[in-house]
Amino acid sequence: MNKVGLFFGTDSGTTRLIGKKIAKLLGADLVDKPLNINRATIDDLLQYDVLILGTATYGAGELPGVANNAKDGSWIEFLPQLAGADFTGKTVALYGLGDQEKYGDRFVNGMAKLYRIFKDLGATIVGEWSAEGYTFTGSDAVLDGKFVGLAIDNNSQGMLTDARLSEWTAAVKPQLEAALTASSQVG
Ligand SMILES: Cc1cc2nc3c(=O)[nH]c(=O)nc-3n(C[C@H](O)[C@H](O)[C@H](O)COP(=O)(O)O)c2cc1C
Repeated sequence: MNKVGLFFGTDSGTTRLIGKKIAKLLGADLVDKPLNINRATIDDLLQYDVLILGTATYGAGELPGVANNAKDGSWIEFLPQLAGADFTGKTVALYGLGDQEKYGDRFVNGMAKLYRIFKDLGATIVGEWSAEGYTFTGSDAVLDGKFVGLAIDNNSQGMLTDARLSEWTAAVKPQLEAALTASSQVG
């Protein structure tokens, strides 16, 4: 499909809100309507060659799901559908929500889980983000000094959210567009 699919996992809705803002900043011509991962099937994801995937972090640095009190289910319940899926040739940009004041030793670790899962399935991950300007002490989502995707802390740095969204979407947009063009040429 010649558009970007955006799927998010949330409990209290912030990751949905941020997903909507990302979609709006990138434009409806480029990004389809964001969909909660608890309503998605593997075929919904696989119809896209380019994806934006978002998640909150719960529990001991985990993805959201029933086990972490996301009563409507979330990424944890979706993961079994990924068994055997092939994301080779697909491009994925990630964003993660967390709270670095309360959970500063495992800030946005859920995004690290998505990174590992989709990289292992063959996806090319784009949209790394500088770790400067944050106060966390530990995060699995930092590799070689950078976040593997956009880290948003709407709890303790909410005043920085809109600027981070503008900067990240501006940086990632050409990468998403290039990936779409490349995939449409492959067929
Ligand atoms: C019980 C609980 C555990 C959490 N654990 C973490 C964590 O380990 N790491 C982190 O960065 N944020 C953690 N958070 C913060 C949430 O990820 C953050 O508030 C996020 O914005 C929630 O997104 P949502 O509204 O989409 O569910 C936790 C929050 C709660 C309530």
